[in-house]
Amino acid sequence: MENTVRITINGREYVVPKGMNLVDAAQSVGIEIPVFCYHPKMKPVGACRMCLVEIEKAPKLQTACTTIVADGMVVRTNSPRAVAGQNATIEFLLLNHPLDCPVCDKGGECPLQDNTFRYGRGVSRFAEMKRHFVKPIPLSDKILLDRERCIMCYRCVRFTREIAGDETLTVLERGSWSQIGVMEGRTFDSPFSGNTIELCPVGALTSALYRFRARPWDIDVSTVGTLCSFCPVGCNVTLTIRNNEVKRVLARENTPVDDGWLCDVGRFTYEFVQSPERLTQPLIRRDGTLQPASWEEAIVLIRDRIQETMVRRGPTAVAAVASPRGTNEEAYLLQKLMRTVVGSNNVDYTLDPHPAPTPLPYDAATGSIAGLEQAAVILLVDVNPIVEQPVLDLRLKKAAGRGSTLVVIGPEKTDLVRYAARWLKVDREQVPALARALVAAVVQEELVNTAFVAERVDGADAVLAAARALDLDQAAAEIGVSRAEIVATARLYAGAARASILYRRAAPAGTAAALVDLALLCGQIGRDGAGLYPLVAQTNEQGAIDVGALPDRLPGQRSLTDAAARQHLADLWGRPIPTAPGLSGAAALAAAGRGELGVLYLIGHDPLGDPARAAALRPALAQVEFLVVQDLFLTETAKQAAVVLPGVSFAEKDGTYTNLERRVQRLNRAVKPRGQMRADWEIIRDLGIALGGDFDYASAADVLAEIAVAAPIYHGLTLARLGTSGLQWPRRPTDGAGTTALYAAAERLRCAPLEEVGPTTVRG
Ligand code: SF4
Ligand code: FES
Repeated sequence: MENTVRITINGREYVVPKGMNLVDAAQSVGIEIPVFCYHPKMKPVGACRMCLVEIEKAPKLQTACTTIVADGMVVRTNSPRAVAGQNATIEFLLLNHPLDCPVCDKGGECPLQDNTFRYGRGVSRFAEMKRHFVKPIPLSDKILLDRERCIMCYRCVRFTREIAGDETLTVLERGSWSQIGVMEGRTFDSPFSGNTIELCPVGALTSALYRFRARPWDIDVSTVGTLCSFCPVGCNVTLTIRNNEVKRVLARENTPVDDGWLCDVGRFTYEFVQSPERLTQPLIRRDGTLQPASWEEAIVLIRDRIQETMVRRGPTAVAAVASPRGTNEEAYLLQKLMRTVVGSNNVDYTLDPHPAPTPLPYDAATGSIAGLEQAAVILLVDVNPIVEQPVLDLRLKKAAGRGSTLVVIGPEKTDLVRYAARWLKVDREQVPALARALVAAVVQEELVNTAFVAERVDGADAVLAAARALDLDQAAAEIGVSRAEIVATARLYAGAARASILYRRAAPAGTAAALVDLALLCGQIGRDGAGLYPLVAQTNEQGAIDVGALPDRLPGQRSLTDAAARQHLADLWGRPIPTAPGLSGAAALAAAGRGELGVLYLIGHDPLGDPARAAALRPALAQVEFLVVQDLFLTETAKQAAVVLPGVSFAEKDGTYTNLERRVQRLNRAVKPRGQMRADWEIIRDLGIALGGDFDYASAADVLAEIAVAAPIYHGLTLARLGTSGLQWPRRPTDGAGTTALYAAAERLRCAPLEEVGPTTVRG
């Protein structure tokens, strides 16, 4: 076979992939070669000598991590010479490494300890004084360095160079005094710095937050695999639990999602879970002040006020807004509660205005995160992933490192500009015009994929006509980018074998429509690496959209005007679905200001906590007759509520999140809620039951089972099928796998009208 070679390890022959290094090749056939400096995601450097093996015909022992397998290679990992080499390496490393394992954070989960037991001699011949340093020194407020423990594997330095690309760490001094440090004039301010703690094979780099807080043998066996809840990438994590408290967040590699990395926000933001400031019981306003109450009192009061409002002012005087950081199950139950027992579509997941929909069938990214590595060209249209979707930034840097051409469009000099072939620097208001200009350039330069358009695209004629009519020179002058740059970018995108576009889902009007047209006219959709990614900003914004927490969309992103969808849900829920579009979150706030809302139920929203909005919104919320706030803390908005309900954090509940690439993943409870805190889905369920609805769910899994029926795009999704790595909807009925690229089939897609073309930019 062309792509394999035959090698012999320890007397037995194996077929392994060509081009692999010996460490990975041995591991692929179940043979361990010990390592310290080698890491499969970084280039081998051969620094530590731990991986010494004997290779036939080689005069000396060789480092397996830097040796590429060759046909006929004969290797011994356990010969007396190889073992002597491994012994010597350990002995040498321990010359200076302190034996402070009992007080070292890494003790009990330390590769140096493990390798010493398995590959060391068991006794040391050295009694000399070891090196000493003042310890520890902070590299940042998050990371401490115990210099004497460092074995100079350079994993941390290489991570900052090769993966994060910020080169924040370096090696200071020389010889045996070499030490890891921060580049002169810098701080270890990388947003990904925490990954070095996990990469460090000894206890040299430790977390300031975790240091001395727990040890591997006293953490709960129930240490749980779950999800990070801070952004829509959906990185997988393991929570270290001790005494029912989160002590640490570690990466749990789900390669297609996170590649094994975490950002510092996700890794270090967990102390709020055990904060003494958390709400632990319901509060009811009595005599003007919020006072502790039982769940029964709170639920009965909310039920009575909702029912009374429905009778007195009609169901449209009740509105509810789910949390975009809540689970799919919570968002689904809230919209079901509003649509069935209240009889109103006044449900949303955000208080911000929604962008106009595009004509594509689904409001979601068409591709996958991992698929970006296959894109030859990636347009980054006014996005800043390092801030909003941090671990996606690492994927884009990886793609650039593997040859993808990045083009940054927008006003901000984001970190990705350093990796980009071009930066089209334009004001944010000009981004829609630039997107339209790219469409015009594709059309006027005859770069349209005519075969794709003929076969797959409807409504192209109007777009082609509008694009031909656009005066590109004038548009370029107005946008502030040269025509040549616009044309060159259009050529790059249209000419790529696979090209993707990332933009904000909440981009200014006209941006999404033009970018959809650009992708359709160039046939850059429906394949891995060729996709459109409208980036959501909130953790489970995609899931809230999918399960119908919207005033005009039903579960499965089906339109409220779709009679068949309404009938399907009416049959499932046993109640008719109200047909009038409801109030969005933003419209509900406006209605509140006009005194039109009797009840407003906010989950995880604190508009009064935003100083920019508080002054305008305070009088509006004061006009709501009965404000219910469900949250973790007594927020500014909660302080104004009639009833406050104590929900739980991501660490305290079960459910599912859907990430920015449509991947539905499991959130698993790691900590028991304190006091009378109650899982948010249970609170909504209890309210649904109190209001006479069909809400008999025993678990979040029960709710998911109903979502899988109510939302066709979630058909077939069960907890078992989601497993530990999740699944991108829709699940393919043929083989049960997820869908990495939407619109891969021959379905026809519709262009969006380029109607926003202004008169000054139309030719003639
Ligand atoms: Fe390796 Fe840790 Fe030293 Fe960095 S601090 S070189 S990761 S041992
Ligand atoms: Fe091969 Fe360090 S693991 S030299």
